Order: sequence, then structure tokens, then C-alpha cells
Amino acid sequence: NATKTVRLSSRIVTKPCRLFAPTRALDHHHHHIYNSDPRTNNDGRRWAHTAKWRPVQVLDEWVAKEARPISLRQLMVFGRSLTEARLISSANYVRTELPTRIAHRIRDMQRLPYVVVTNPHISDVYELYYNAFDTFRRVKEIKTLDDNERFCAEMAKMLRAHLSVIPKLAMGILECSGLMPTDELDRFMNTILRSRISRRVIAEQHLALTETFNADWFSPGAKLSESDFIGEVFLKCVAKDVIERCGRAVQDLARSANPGPDIAIPEIRVDGHLEATFPYILSHLEYIVGELLRNAVQAVIDKHKSNSPEQHQKPPPPIEVTLCEAQQHVIIRISDQGGGVPRDTLPYLWSFGRKGQLRSQRLENLEQVPLMAATLQELRVDGNFSSLQDGGGGRVVGHDSSLTSLSTRPPNLRLGMGLPLSRVYAEYWAGSLELHSLEGYGVDAFLQISKLGNKNEQLATRAAMDA
Ligand code: COI
Repeated sequence: NATKTVRLSSRIVTKPCRLFAPTRALDHHHHHIYNSDPRTNNDGRRWAHTAKWRPVQVLDEWVAKEARPISLRQLMVFGRSLTEARLISSANYVRTELPTRIAHRIRDMQRLPYVVVTNPHISDVYELYYNAFDTFRRVKEIKTLDDNERFCAEMAKMLRAHLSVIPKLAMGILECSGLMPTDELDRFMNTILRSRISRRVIAEQHLALTETFNADWFSPGAKLSESDFIGEVFLKCVAKDVIERCGRAVQDLARSANPGPDIAIPEIRVDGHLEATFPYILSHLEYIVGELLRNAVQAVIDKHKSNSPEQHQKPPPPIEVTLCEAQQHVIIRISDQGGGVPRDTLPYLWSFGRKGQLRSQRLENLEQVPLMAATLQELRVDGNFSSLQDGGGGRVVGHDSSLTSLSTRPPNLRLGMGLPLSRVYAEYWAGSLELHSLEGYGVDAFLQISKLGNKNEQLATRAAMDA
């Protein structure tokens, strides 16, 4: 009867039941969290169990496989003399690599405290990943160009659907801070983000190679060897050009984010080894450099605003960028005189967790969090992304371009993960990102890039979750 059903279903909704494979963490360590109150989101969505239960054996089989990392050089060599056989073998590499890499991250999510996975954003990500895993693991060996076309179409669709992953993770992690130790949360985020970058790289590289192959097929005149790109790899990233291009975009962004007649935007000067070049994935470099410059420019503007009227007459101090080309590396130092990072913020600078990222982004106050969510909703992150897609060219490549690129995102949109995500990008190709704060004076950011392209992608983080 009706009452019984209602009572029964409400019990199903509110009482935690075990949805995922039992793990040590779920059974013991986080037991107390099971009994916390049911939570509700700002939008009234209940933290319920939207994730489905699935048998664990299939996942186990894939988790048992190791990922096979590649280097920029391998990506280049592979694409340089592209033949049908090579394209097919690239397709099969991606076909087995994607489900393997996703499987490891699904297992990570199953190890999270139960209450964290019941968060609607996190459970959406879990569903996206499980669905992607299940789709790719079923793809049969690719033998013909037609097989490859179908595979590419599936992959392009998936890449588009997964554009919402970063904002969902960002919001989910904000809502879950406090439910799990911050260092564990950060380790989880580092691993899942780095792994996501790696999957998008191999997927987008294969799509780009397929596109090139098709273009060559139809117009043999346009030869691959004449291009500065091999797939997604830009053979000659000129550091100076990238800084200048990102610098202009950041200055434009700062102008619209800081309206007012007497706001002075600092100059950006580039010095040092101006000829430094290296192969890289351009969008990765642009993301990092864009975030670092954005932080620097905003800090200088804020500091300048608080100066006395006499000091205010002078232009704000410039951002100085120094390029240094060494044997194995290119180092980019970005120095600002924006007052430095407050001492009590330093420990949280690289954290994805609430406290850390709010402060490291130098947000004025907590009010900005609902603002961020509102902005994201305006972008209809939960709905479809078609309005955000770059419509031209039919390419889905370009890393999360709609939400993270400087030129297209709204000036006030803050995903709140600029610095830590930049470091994930830097470390992925075996580079590094460090920040030194000169208290009260400014910040020096050091981005080190491995310039030979011979280093493998770095899939494990500082303290690997797979260990
Ligand atoms: C992601 O973007 O999160 C992915 O996992 C990409 C993959 C489905 C191709």
C-alpha cells in the first residue's frame, strides 16, 4: 500500500546503503561519516545516492592493467610519417589506454568517504566516468578506417560531455571540504586532474592525427611536414610569443574585471633568452602562463588601489618576466610587486580545498562563492554545453577551452583552482611550478619546462594514490 511504499522509499533515500565495492576505507576508517545528516545543496538538491551499483569484477580486470605513458617526442614521431597502419595502431593504443586510465580513477573514487561520493557534483563525475569506462572497454579492435571514424565520433562526443568535469569537481570539492582531511582531498584532486589531462591529450592527439590524415588524403598538397603542429603538439613554442599573447589577453581581462576610470593596468615586460623555444602542447602552456600572469596583474592592481594618493599618481610597477634557456630546461620567472602572499595564506596556496583556494585566489570575502556558483549556472554547466562550444571548424580539441581559456571565459568566473591546476599541468610534462613570496613586496613564480620533449607524461602524483 501507499504508506508503506512511501516509507520504504524514504528509507531508501535517507539511509546510507553500500553502493560501491567494499573497501577498507569504507568499512573502517570513515565509518563515522556514514551517520552524518543528509545534506542539501544551495539549489535544494539532496545529497542522495545517484550512483548505481555495478559489479566489481570488470573494473578489477582493468585496474589490474598498467597505463602505458608516452612522451611528447613519441607523440611527434608517431604523427610525422602518418600512414594508415600507424593511424590504426594509434587508435588501438587509445582504445585500450582510455578505459585503463579511467578505471584507476573510478577505483580512487570508490575509495573516497561515502558521504563525499553522495555529493551531487562528485556523483555526476562518477557517473560520467563509469559511463565512459563502460563505453570504451566495449570497443572492438579497430581494423579499418571506418572503424576508426566511428571510434573518433564516440570519443569526440565524450570529450564534449566531459567539459563539465572540472567545474563539477571544483564545486563538489568546495562542498566536501571538511568531510575529509585536506591533504587527502588535494591528493585525490591532483591525481584525478592529471589523469584527466593525460586522457584528453591522447584522445585529442588521435583525433587531430585522424583529421590530418583525412586532410592529406583529400588534398595531398598540404603536407604534414610543412606544419608547425603535429597533432596537438606545437613543435616550436616560442616562450616570448606565448608570454606576450597571454599578457595581452590578461590585460584585457583585467580591464573588464576592474572597471573604473583610474584603474591602471600594469605593463608586462619580457627579458632574458628571448629566443627560447621548445615543443609543447600550446594550450597547456597558455593555461599556466595565463593563470600566473592573471594572479600577478590582479595583485598589482589591488596593491596599487590601496596606495596613498601621491603614489597613485605613478604608474603601477610592471610585471617582469625573465626567460632562461638551459640545457634541458626553459625556465620562466614571473615577478610582480603586488605585495606578496599573506603569511597565513602560504600553507594553503596549492590546496584545492576551500580555505586554501579561497585565500590563494585572493578573493575579497566568502560572498564570492555563491557568485561563482551563480556564474557557472548561468553558463548552464549542468545543461548542455553546445552554446559554449567553439562552433567553427568542427573540432572539439582545445583543452576545456570554453571554461578555462582566457579569451572566452567571463571575467569574474573563478573556478578557484588556478594555481594548483597550473602546477598539475606543469608537472604532467615533467616540469615544475614554484612560488616565492617576498612578504609585503611581491611574488616570484618559477615555471620550469622540460624542453627536449623526451620525458614521459607523469601520471603518478607526489604521493601516488595507486601505491
Ligand atoms: C575527461 O575529459 O574527463 C575524460 O576522461 C576524457 C575521455 C572521456 C576521452
